[in-house]
Amino acid sequence: MFSKTALLAALLAAVASVTARPLDVWDPEITSPTAGVRWLPGDIHNITWDTSNAPADISEVSMIVLAKGGVEDIANPLAQGFDLRAGFVPVAIPLSTVSGDDYAIVLFGDSGNLSPTFTIL
Ligand SMILES: *[C@@H]1O[C@H](CO)[C@@H](O)[C@H](O)[C@H]1NC(C)=O
Repeated sequence: MFSKTALLAALLAAVASVTARPLDVWDPEITSPTAGVRWLPGDIHNITWDTSNAPADISEVSMIVLAKGGVEDIANPLAQGFDLRAGFVPVAIPLSTVSGDDYAIVLFGDSGNLSPTFTIL
C-alpha cells in the first residue's frame, strides 16, 4: 500500500515528466481561404495550411470552425478529428450560412489560427 508520502512523490514525478516534455505549440499558417475569396453556402472547399514547419510532437486535437465578425461558431465545427499533418481538409459551407464579408476560418491544434477574412455570398 502507498504511504501518503510515496503517493505524493509519484504524483510529483508524473507532473515533472509531463512538464519536461511539453508538446510543441504549432501555429500553422492557413493558405486557403485567402483574403476576399467568395464562397457559396453548400460549396465544398479545401481548407489548407502550411505543414512545412510541423513539429515532431503534434497535437491530437484538430478542429475547424467558422468565425463571423470575429465570433467563432465553436458549437458547430466544420471539421474535426482530421490529421493536422495532411495540410488540408475538405469542408462544406452549411446551407444555412448567412451572407457576409466578415468570415474567417479558425484552425485549432494546440492553439487557434485565423485565416484572412473572406466572403460567403
Ligand atoms: C482537396 O485537396 C486534395 C488534395 O490535393 C484533392 O485531392 C481534393 O480533390 C481537394 N478537394 C476539393 C474539394 O477541392
